[in-house]
Amino acid sequence: MAKKNDLVIRAAKGEQVERTPVWLMRQAGRVLPEYREVRAKMGGFKQLVETPEFACEVTIQPVDILGVDAAIIFSDILVIPEAMGLPYQMIEAKGPWFEKTIKTVDDIAKLKIAEPEDLHYVMDAIKLTKKELNGRVPLIGFAGAPWTIFSYMIEGSGSKTFSKAKKFLYTQPELAHVLLQKITDSTINYLKGQIAAGADMLQLFDSWAGVLSPAQYDEFALKYISQICDAVSEVPFTVFAKDAHFARKKMGQLSCDTIGLDWTMDIAESRALIGSNKTLQGNMDPCLLYSDFETIKKETKKMLNQFGAHRHIANLGHGLYPDLEVDKVKCFIDTIQEFRF
Ligand code: CP3
Repeated sequence: MAKKNDLVIRAAKGEQVERTPVWLMRQAGRVLPEYREVRAKMGGFKQLVETPEFACEVTIQPVDILGVDAAIIFSDILVIPEAMGLPYQMIEAKGPWFEKTIKTVDDIAKLKIAEPEDLHYVMDAIKLTKKELNGRVPLIGFAGAPWTIFSYMIEGSGSKTFSKAKKFLYTQPELAHVLLQKITDSTINYLKGQIAAGADMLQLFDSWAGVLSPAQYDEFALKYISQICDAVSEVPFTVFAKDAHFARKKMGQLSCDTIGLDWTMDIAESRALIGSNKTLQGNMDPCLLYSDFETIKKETKKMLNQFGAHRHIANLGHGLYPDLEVDKVKCFIDTIQEFRF
């Protein structure tokens, strides 16, 4: 059996590590031609997500090809709205689209609280991937944070401003809380199911955190993230809230192990706000990987020094972009794995 690599888990728990571990948000799909081949064979994204043996294959691709220190299960945050009763489609070159959206109290009443069995294909993919990884690297499970999932359920697709979702908060705050609580309960069930299936670590993605005001973020986002962190405490847990500068201090109070930073967040300032009890994850600008190899190496080392040897998991400040070159991505990973303090 290959030597067990549990660097990411140990770094999340604040234990000593021989070197800084690295994985990348959106490492499966996006940049690998091998992914596109499997997707073409499957006839689309959703078929891939819903077929455990292929989800397993593309989950392991970045471990084999890029050499990352963790795998993240191939799925999407939108499986939760679907399990609650709002099916999604993934439209080529456009992104997600929901035929039904939430408008009324009745729409919310009709939604079910998702159970792990409703997402059996994710559970099966996790079980299979754990078996295939055979302890080589930890497997990360994930879900969208309630506010981000709420946004898709109201808007029905991506948006620049998320003004429909925000309008709902301003005009029907009580109803918004009912929906957010249903999403939260579903997410807790889902994440607990992922742990039971074998996920070694979990991450919550709050991709649209940045459209809320600090007060709204407290009321409509952090409240529910906090419930999830408290309810799901069996494995190391990361919260990544993109553009949530204003929430960093409060995020330091969550009962999770790791806080993800985006590239606009100053590292020293984030450490001061979040405190020394959390591991920080991030936070290179993905666009650095468009530059030349020398610049990538120099900037990556600078980032490692800024975070320091303790309590850091290296990553990008958001997901990889589809047109990045694999060699440049590999250069970022190699630089981190070769670096010693
Ligand atoms: O990290 C990984 O590689 C694991 C799989 C993963 C996917 N989506 C696969 C995917 C993860 C962790 C996600 C999370 C996700 N999905 C988020 C949060 C992270 C973030 O980027 O902010 C969000 C907001 C979504 C919703 C979503 N899914 C959008 C907006 C889109 C379309 C645009 C895009 O990102 O390509 C997707 C599609 C999607 N999810 C793809 C993949 C590989 C591309 C589909 C394809 O063309 O094959």
